[in-house]
Order: sequence, then structure tokens, then C-alpha cells
Amino acid sequence: MRFPFPRRDRYLVFGAPRLPEEAIEAAVRVLRSGWLGTGPQVAAFEKAFAEYIGTPFAVAVGSCTAALHLALRLVGVGPGDEVITTPITFAATANVIVHAGARPVFADVDLRTGNLDPEAAQSAITSRTKAILVVHYGGRPCEMDAFLALARRYDLFLIEDAAHALEAFYRGRKVGTLGDLAAFSFYPTKSLTTGEGGMLTTSVEAWAERARILRLHGLSRDAWRRYSEDAFPDYEVLEPGYKYNMTDIQAALGLAQLPYLERWLRCREYYWSLYNQGLQDLAGISLPPEDTHLVHARHLYTIRVNPREAPFDRDTLIHLLHKAGIGTGIHYKALHLHRFYREAFGYRPGMFPSAERISEETLSLPLSAHMEESDILYVIDVIRFLWREGRF
Ligand SMILES: Cc1ncc(COP(=O)(O)O)c(C=O)c1O
Repeated sequence: MRFPFPRRDRYLVFGAPRLPEEAIEAAVRVLRSGWLGTGPQVAAFEKAFAEYIGTPFAVAVGSCTAALHLALRLVGVGPGDEVITTPITFAATANVIVHAGARPVFADVDLRTGNLDPEAAQSAITSRTKAILVVHYGGRPCEMDAFLALARRYDLFLIEDAAHALEAFYRGRKVGTLGDLAAFSFYPTKSLTTGEGGMLTTSVEAWAERARILRLHGLSRDAWRRYSEDAFPDYEVLEPGYKYNMTDIQAALGLAQLPYLERWLRCREYYWSLYNQGLQDLAGISLPPEDTHLVHARHLYTIRVNPREAPFDRDTLIHLLHKAGIGTGIHYKALHLHRFYREAFGYRPGMFPSAERISEETLSLPLSAHMEESDILYVIDVIRFLWREGRF
């Protein structure tokens, strides 16, 4: 296949992180400090993160997956329970429901936003439903007033998967303070990264305290307090917890990035507007919608490619962009279509039409504060060229 765009010397890696020098230096200081485990840096990161979110408690863990699992454990989700969630999410969101011994109950999404549809969620409620686990997909907050009303009416817990939505607000209220508990991700593609890492936020002190115990084997005192506070390294196992703690190396990286979040969001907002302007007139491409009642975290710039109107289907476009040196992402192949979920829970194609349409048509273009304006313009140029040529 002939392709007119020469491969650039630099492949546009999807989701490349932007790390300030201070973060790298802070991590190196920890490496030289003699204490690498969970310690003072984790405590400082938790405090600063809680202030940033505007929540009383933040508990640092090894991943968002760990934070989600702890959230389910804290509200008592277990065997026999059902948790309603979206099929348009990363596997972690539903896998943790299975880890907790419960049944993941998918409900369809709003085709316009990709977020869980509150009416579909309501229809999925049964006497076994214990919680609703919403995902602020791509950085766009869910319709939280509707979910809060459902949670109140049916006496359910509401958990936010805020992996994409660190900087987001819903009707002036910060994501991470809206549900009973929220989970954030610091995976490398996220706007704040600690390599791997996550944070659990809540306003319930008892949950925060138990999360601190559960994140480290259920021990009564963590290693920092055992080895440094007094000379007697005693502890007791209070319950069989997990190995979900965050290290001081990770926390130092995270703490140093917090002051940059707003600046980087402005940068992504600008790139987002360039994509909107550059792609708006192309046939068969649906751009992400704008909503005035939200602050969108601009994590994923997802378009939908309608194969009946566009010259290429989504998969061909991914292939052509790759040839032009542009990495893209699929967010997501709907979870109910994956083998495990089909076989273990009887999900079938056709059950959630909007999720399936997104699953087939969605494509995320590279978007990161690490990129330069010329990178975004290059992506737009390549796509416009492909649409003009109409074949390859
Ligand atoms: C929506 C969503 N939830 C949960 C996760 C899991 O995050 P982590 O990799 O930090 O465990 C991800 C990861 O990318 C995600 O996109």
C-alpha cells in the first residue's frame, strides 16, 4: 500500500505522559533517602490530593483497580450482590466486581456521551443491587444528579470510577466528591502519573481508616510506623487485606505534578479545540459533544467513524494513521462482548445497542500535554488528506 506521508522521525505515542523535572528530581531524592516504601511522601501526597479534590480523605494505593476493589469491599459488596456499571469502560471496572464476588450488571450508555444512561441503570436495578459504579468516560462527568437520586431512592451506594476525570467538575461540584467513594488512576497515560498508582477518596472517616488497613495486608500499623516511629516493630493482622499500598517513590512523582494539572488541562483544552475545528466538516465523523454544565477533564478525544458515511471504517483508519506514525486508542470494546463476560454471565451481542455502536465506531486520537501543537495539526492534516483521497 502506497502512503504519501513519510514516517515522522518521532512516532506519536498514544497517551505519552508529561513529567516535570521536579517530579523526576523528587523521585530521585526518595531513592537516595533510604526509605522507598509507604511513608512520609505518601502521607504528603494524600493530604495535597485531598485538598485538590476538596474531600476530607484520600488514601493512596497501587492502582485505580485497587482503589475500586477497596471501594466495593468498604460498602460491603460480596457474593449474591449485583453492581450496575457501564460496558464502555476498561476491564478493571467490571473485573473488580467479580473480584469482590458479586455480579457485574451492565446497562446501556448514552450514545451521545458514552456515559452510563441513568434510565438504563434504573431498569437494571433488582433486589440484589448493592451499588452503581459509574465511569466518567473520557473525562466527561456522568449525569450525577440522576445517579444520586437513584442511589437515594433505591438505597444503593454510588461509586465513581474517576480514572479519566481528575480535573472534572459536574455542575460546579468536583468529581471525586459526588458519590460515596471515588477511585482515580495514575497509570502512565493519565494526566498525573506515578508509573502505576491510584487514589481512593471519600468523606467517610471509617472507610478511609479501614482502607488504610486493607491496603497493606490488614496490618494494624503500616511499615513506616513500625520501623520509624518507635523502636518496637509490633503489629497485628486485623483482617486479611491486600498488597495495595503506594510507595514513596510513586507519591513523590505524584505530589510534584499536582501544581501542573490546571496548566496541562488548558493545554489539552486548546488541542481539543484544534481537533474540533480541523475535523468538524468531515463526513461520517462525530466529534465529542460539548456540554456547558460540566468541566470536562479532556482525557480522551474520542471520535466516532460511521462506516456508512465516512470513506473508511474505524479499523482501516487506525491502520492508516499508524502508517503515518500516529498512535490511536480504542475506548472501548464493550465489556459484555468479551469472552469472559459472555461465558460467565450470559451477555450477548445485541443487548446494549449504543455501547455496541461505540465499540465498533470509536477511535481516540492522541491528546496529551506532552504533545506539541504541530503534532495535533499533523494528525488533522493526515485525516483531512485521507478524507480527500477517499481510498488507500
Ligand atoms: C475507566 C478506567 N477504570 C479503571 C482503570 C484502571 O486503572 P489502573 O490501571 O490505575 O488500575 C482504568 C485504566 O486505564 C480506566 O481507564
